[in-house]
Order: sequence, then structure tokens, then C-alpha cells
Amino acid sequence: MKIPGGKNKMRNPSQIAFLGAGNLAQSLVAGLLAQGHPAAALRATRRGPEQQEALRTRFGIAADGDNREAAAWAELVVLAVKPQQLAALCAELAAVDFTGKLVISVAAGATTALIAKHLGQSPAMVRAMPNTPSRIGLGATGLYATPAVSPAQKAEAEALFQAVGTTAWLADEGLMDVVTAVAGSGPAYYFAFMEAMQAAAVNLGLDEATARILVKQTALGAVSLAERSAEDLAELRRQVTSKGGTTAAALARFEAGDLNGLVLDALSVATARGRELAQALD
Ligand SMILES: NC(=O)c1ccc[n+]([C@@H]2O[C@H](COP(=O)([O-])OP(=O)(O)OC[C@H]3O[C@@H](n4cnc5c(N)ncnc54)[C@H](OP(=O)(O)O)[C@@H]3O)[C@@H](O)[C@H]2O)c1
Repeated sequence: MKIPGGKNKMRNPSQIAFLGAGNLAQSLVAGLLAQGHPAAALRATRRGPEQQEALRTRFGIAADGDNREAAAWAELVVLAVKPQQLAALCAELAAVDFTGKLVISVAAGATTALIAKHLGQSPAMVRAMPNTPSRIGLGATGLYATPAVSPAQKAEAEALFQAVGTTAWLADEGLMDVVTAVAGSGPAYYFAFMEAMQAAAVNLGLDEATARILVKQTALGAVSLAERSAEDLAELRRQVTSKGGTTAAALARFEAGDLNGLVLDALSVATARGRELAQALD
């Protein structure tokens, strides 16, 4: 039965173009398709004909090298090239009329002002900072919207990144560098800590395979517990720490080495480095 127009009419899924469909864009396409977004409402670009063919085969979506045509077709235009490829892509798009469209950029460090400068126009824009666990649907994405973005467009941008994980809106674009330092780079910090635990375990006598299994499962267990529990992190830590016990002994060493100060220092330099790299793009 056909549903008549008006209040009951189902909203058509947005037409989304991914310009520069590499690793990240492909995670987003996979996430959207898994959520039932029709393949016909998605298209992608790459420069290499073989890569375009691979996109068509893998996802069943239209894929070619025509950025201008894809942007003109789409309601949401996702700029997914590397930051250093962004200026060239925007120059290609300068002739496209972005009125009524939403531009979403994932390019690390590229501000909305810089993108507007390269495009020669100021469309409604969302800047996103996802991270690599997006590949398996466990990403953490910081989002910032320019004032011209409508509530409906905000919801669409949010749905796009929620297809690959969790999202958080920022009121201040300047905080995007902090999101990059915390969530963008964050997976590497956890890997480094797990590597250190694994090396220490081997040093103390465990074989490498056993150390790896225990370290990874402990990390997964701790994160899952934090995720499912109503208690805050400090309380969860206290629950593992008996007075005078093994955990207390180890934590005292972390404290003596000023773990909190070290983490603050590391994230501060990462934030500052993000700002430097952003300035270099300008
Ligand atoms: N990967 C992540 O988890 C992650 C996290 C946060 C932010 N980001 C951001 O996401 C962006 C993409 O990262 P990525 O890891 O997905 O990089 P990537 O795999 O290199 O993807 C970029 C793609 O853009 C294509 N490309 C370059 N110039 C093009 C043009 N003019 N027209 C059409 N396609 C073009 C390239 O393919 P061809 O050479 O075939 O054209 C390449 O596959 C970056 O800006 C990065 O800062 C990524």
C-alpha cells in the first residue's frame, strides 16, 4: 500500500557522496549499508580506475573519478581525502553550488574557515574527527557544526558517524585539536600501554603468547566493565585495590612517576602539535 504524502511520508534517505573513498570513507559506507542506507543513495570517488572498480564491486555503489558531478548530485558531501590533498579537491569543487548542501570534512587539522577559503564559498559545514576503531564500528568521533548547519543536517551528520561508533558535539571548533589528541591519537596510547604491560609480563617470566592474551583480555574486560557499570572510573579502580595489596603497590609506583602529570603533558603536546599542523595547512 502506498503511503500518501504529508505527515506520514517516509523521509527519503540522503544522497551522500564520499570524495576520496579510502580507508575512512569505506568504513563509513560499510556502516551506512549495514544500517540499511540504500546503495543507490551513496556514491564515491577515487582517482584510480581500479580502485573505483573495487568500490563498485565491494559495496555495489556508483564510483568514479568525477568529484564535481558527485558533489552536485549529493545532499551530503563528505571530503575524505588526506589533509594535504584537500586544497586540490576543493579547487576542483569551486564551481559546484553548495546551496542547501552539507559539506562534511574529516581532514585532520583543516578548519572550516580554511575549507571555505579553498572552496571560495561558505556552505553549511560539519567538521569531524573520527578514529581508527571506526573500522570495526567502535569509533569515537568529535563533531563541530558551523552556525549555518540546520538541526536536520546536524542529525544527518551525527547518524553518519554513529553508523561507525559514538559521537560527541563540540560547541567550540578550537577544541577539535583536543579531540584529536584524546580520541584521534588515543588508540595508540592504549596500544603503547598494552605493549609496555606485555613486555613487563615477559620480563617477569610469562611467555609472550600468554602475556598477550592476558593483557588484551584484561584491557577488554576493564573497558567493558567501565562501559556497563554506573560507577565512575575512580570507584572501579578502588574496587580492585585492597589496602596494602598488589594493586596498591603498583598504583603507588605509577603515582610516584606522576602518571597523571605525564598523561597531561603528552596530551598537551599532542594538542599543540595538532595546532601547528593545522597552521601549516593554511
Ligand atoms: N583513517 C581514520 O581512521 C581517520 C581518522 C581520523 C581522520 N581521518 C581523516 O580522514 C581522511 C582520510 O583518511 P584515510 O585514512 O581514509 O586516507 P586514505 O585511505 O588515503 O583515503 C584518501 C583517499 O582519497 C583518494 N583521493 C585523493 N585525492 C583525490 C581526489 N582529488 N579525488 C578523488 N579521490 C582522491 C585516494 O585514492 P586515489 O589515490 O585512488 O585517488 C585515497 O584513497 C584524512 O583527512 C584523515 O585526516 C582518518
